[in-house]
Amino acid sequence: MEDFDTSVQIPQTGGKYRAHNPTEARATYWWTEEDGDRRRLWNAGRSRGLQKADKRLGGALSATFAQLLQDRESLTILEIGTGYAHVLLDLRMMASDRLELHGINVEPGYNQQLIEEFARDQGLDIPGIAPPTIHVHDADNGVPFADETFDLIFSVATLHSIRDKLRLLEEVSRTLRPEGVALIEFPTAVNDMAGLPVPDHYRQRMEIWDRGTAVDVFDWLQSQRSVSVGQAADDRYVRIEKSGPLSFPAELVASFSLPGIWEKWWGCQSIYRVVETAP
Ligand SMILES: C[S@@+](CC[C@H](N)C(=O)[O-])C[C@H]1O[C@@H](n2cnc3c(N)ncnc32)[C@H](O)[C@@H]1O
Repeated sequence: MEDFDTSVQIPQTGGKYRAHNPTEARATYWWTEEDGDRRRLWNAGRSRGLQKADKRLGGALSATFAQLLQDRESLTILEIGTGYAHVLLDLRMMASDRLELHGINVEPGYNQQLIEEFARDQGLDIPGIAPPTIHVHDADNGVPFADETFDLIFSVATLHSIRDKLRLLEEVSRTLRPEGVALIEFPTAVNDMAGLPVPDHYRQRMEIWDRGTAVDVFDWLQSQRSVSVGQAADDRYVRIEKSGPLSFPAELVASFSLPGIWEKWWGCQSIYRVVETAP
């Protein structure tokens, strides 16, 4: 029990504790207490499974996975911002011997050991089949893989944390195999991140300016080669179909952490300027 950090008391749930994990840095977990027994709760905002991820991607994740699996003998898949890798573990349950799975997390605590612990706890481990490989890496420094590595790349509830969102989409395109597909959710903040309205361009955490005028981010993305924008229940997502490397005619002007404006907001605002391209 000494790994419980009872300094953070949450009346309804008990509190938070740090996992007993040698490389632990920032991962914290919720626990409940019943009759003196403490039970770990996995952080709900980090443990969405396939069903929830699919909802945030308009059903496109399951459909694309099934389609790619039909067309190819095996799939190499990357999730950017994988939390406990619940989605990758769910996919592995569906085609365990045909998948090579990778996940990226920026936080050192969300590492291989934690993901394997989560898989065992949730009954999602498959003896003899390798678990997803977790890479502790900041996706703002690019996607740490060679060109044309993945058949499918997806990301849920993560892009809002990225400083240079367009560069990440270019990196995604670079590492997709020919005719590979990427599905990247643009998590849109609810209109009251803390009970007060939030301007639209802050809710999507991105703005694009063309000759001094702000353009609609999703119309602009939709107008780019290989990119289409889909609508899910609450959010939009982009679908990239690899037909050559993607290079957006826009440069990052500034990015900043939204809690810098107000502590209750979260994510990173990215501001771009459209640049002229050669005719
Ligand atoms: C809100 S959680 C979402 C986890 C999971 N996709 C889900 O929907 O349950 C965001 C995840 O993105 C990761 N993340 C945030 N910023 C990142 C970055 N710059 N590079 C890589 N991973 C990042 C975090 O480590 C965390 O696992």
